[in-house]
Amino acid sequence: MRHLVSIRDLSLGDLEALLDRAEGHARDLRGDGEHLADRIVCTAFFEPSTRTRLSFEAAAHHLGAAVMGFADHASTSATKGESLEDAARVLSGYADAMILRHPESGAAARAAAVADVPVINAGDGDGEHPTQTLTDLYTIRHERGTLEGLTVAFVGDLRYGRTVHSLAPALERYGARLLQVPAPGLEMPSGAPHAESVDLDAAAEKADVLYATRIQQERFPDPAAYDAARGSLLVDRALLERTGSKAMVLHPLPRVDELATDLDGHPAAKYFDQARNGVPVRMAVLATLLEDS
Ligand code: NCD
Repeated sequence: MRHLVSIRDLSLGDLEALLDRAEGHARDLRGDGEHLADRIVCTAFFEPSTRTRLSFEAAAHHLGAAVMGFADHASTSATKGESLEDAARVLSGYADAMILRHPESGAAARAAAVADVPVINAGDGDGEHPTQTLTDLYTIRHERGTLEGLTVAFVGDLRYGRTVHSLAPALERYGARLLQVPAPGLEMPSGAPHAESVDLDAAAEKADVLYATRIQQERFPDPAAYDAARGSLLVDRALLERTGSKAMVLHPLPRVDELATDLDGHPAAKYFDQARNGVPVRMAVLATLLEDS
């Protein structure tokens, strides 16, 4: 494994190895603080982020690596017109791995094509977000003990939501039955694994996992389409109660108005655990890629 651009870069064996390794890190986050002691990782974030960037940075610190980077590309030469390819070539000379978030789909693949060091896709536009998927898989496996035989319902912005674009193909490999409850006009894109359209109550009744997502306001070419979609779906305590749902509720966060705070503290609500799991999962990703490089 040289880069992590798409979840499709990983075989089922790679996925299992990363999840097993993450379990080991989770048991003892500070266990091996010298593992990457002589390495430098760069977080190159051309788009806003809280969890992804900071959990990667925490992961690197736990492994003993030094971290450098930027969270606001306005402070970089991108504002002078520098291309992504040139930035990737230059950062390759400074760091042993590049963790890239960028507003354009395909950006991580472009960077990986020219970089001399591993490139990790931390979200490329409406493309993919493979390390979020590893975090999601880890959380499901940790809570349920298995990734086999699941029914998973995706709720919300399935058109622009990159976390779903990586998670759906991964779950398909595990033989999951996929359901979708898109906000108006925001169905899964063509080329995505098949997901049966159902309404929200049916999804809550049938699913083992309800995966809610934010409407991706920043990706809409037309503000009116965003206004039409926002507020159309709500995952809350009443939904779980009226449907007798047994589902675990996940959300990559941040939430806006699609996931009610009245679920916080409910035994089904696993989204803050999911965010926390990003640290051991990203430790596994960094250790694996840097070991191989
Ligand atoms: C997601 C993202 O950036 O795609 N956030 C995250 O990394 N946890 C989801 C989102 O922004 O809605």
